[in-house]
Amino acid sequence: MPDPRENLAAAVTDALPAARADLERLVRIPSIWADPAHAEDTRRSAETVAELARAAGAAAVQIVAAEGGAPAVVAQWPAPEGQPTVLLYAHHDVQPTGGDEHWTSPPFEPTERDGRLYGRGAADDKAGVMTHLAVLRAYQGHPPVGVTLFIEGEEESGSPTLPALLRSHHELLTADVIVIADAANPAVDVPALTTSLRGLVDVTVEVAMLERPVHSGVYGGPVGDALTALCTTLGALHDAKGEVAIPGLARGHSDAPDMDEATFRSDAGLLDGVELLGTGTLPERTWLKPAVAVLGIDAPRVAEASNVLVPRARAMVSMRIAPGEDALAAQRALAAHLESHVPWGAQVTVTPGPGIAEPFTLDGTGAAYDAARRAFSEAYGNAAVETGIGGSIPFIAEFARTFPGAAVLVTGVGDPASRWHGIDESLHLEMFGKGVLAEALLLAELTRP
Ligand code: BES
Ligand code: MN
Ligand code: MN
Repeated sequence: MPDPRENLAAAVTDALPAARADLERLVRIPSIWADPAHAEDTRRSAETVAELARAAGAAAVQIVAAEGGAPAVVAQWPAPEGQPTVLLYAHHDVQPTGGDEHWTSPPFEPTERDGRLYGRGAADDKAGVMTHLAVLRAYQGHPPVGVTLFIEGEEESGSPTLPALLRSHHELLTADVIVIADAANPAVDVPALTTSLRGLVDVTVEVAMLERPVHSGVYGGPVGDALTALCTTLGALHDAKGEVAIPGLARGHSDAPDMDEATFRSDAGLLDGVELLGTGTLPERTWLKPAVAVLGIDAPRVAEASNVLVPRARAMVSMRIAPGEDALAAQRALAAHLESHVPWGAQVTVTPGPGIAEPFTLDGTGAAYDAARRAFSEAYGNAAVETGIGGSIPFIAEFARTFPGAAVLVTGVGDPASRWHGIDESLHLEMFGKGVLAEALLLAELTRP
């Protein structure tokens, strides 16, 4: 076999303009699978990815879905004789926009400003999708190892039907190494291999006090309201220091150097004077400790509020869980904690959310990691660092359970300024190029002599 590295950098450079154009094409499709109104768009998004895979020389392309699940794309480039197969993962679904009117440019009209491409999904995770496709293009459809491209469509919904999908397409998805391009780098010139991820569970808690709304003056005092009861319940989620107060949760210790607090605050957009919650270094707090947040409340709107006691109210509570935790056990602990902190004998119903992501730690050693360190350091011009993230990728634990022998690499082309899930999400375009080269080099490094 000729050296796959020959002219690779030039081939990647040549592949980038089309990859950028196709990324814009994908960003224009509002593939918000979690919103039923965008189910058709998510199908269109899967079809576009399938079309791009065909154009990148795939031998076989199919769109698959489990019962009730989102369309995923599976495309294959068969392994040259004696070479391993690498599964390249990303997701084509995106988060809701959070209100189009808040964006500097419309979320589904990709726009370049100062070297960044703005748009929903420009980073998370259509950049991951296009990283893989650009690599296959750079190899002109003949990668030096076997490639299975797997682009799922319900990651942002917690991948509820992924286990079923992995079961029904077991053989198709079997691989020696898997590359998950859905994470971020600590800086645009510092490549990361992510080896620690938190898990995620959520519950809906509903508090009921009254059969119906009643006059707040006639009954108020002896009769309480459900919204205050709900707030009291939610107030018990943290202790006075801002630590998660649910007993028995896993917590880890990290020796990673602390992040600069001012930078962290400004990346997060924290307002002046607002304190950080909890204790420990920032890597420890964001990677290895639990975090709990109230994501939404159903209650009367302020503009429509009248002088009545609110009979019932509900909230969605989401909890990030540290590596070492069992997601179902953590979800039960969260439910029990809420149930035991409802005041005034109010009736409470806690309903577990369907999407569950197990936390995960990867052992960053072995041949695939050595190959990745060489490839990524070369492409970015700086040594690859091992890092953790506070976010979750349900696919990882699910895939590792299904294919225990495969080496798992978590990469990606986000950076601290990408604003994943936020307003004005963006991709640093120069880093995108480095990310494509890094993955192209990685495939070359994974070839067996
Ligand atoms: N790509 C993210 C995970 C991520 C976030 C990696 C930040 C690196 C930096 C992924 O798409 C995501 O958002 N996952 C969800 C999972 C959930 C719906 C189960 C998350 O973390 O909220
Ligand atoms: Mn993602
Ligand atoms: Mn995401």
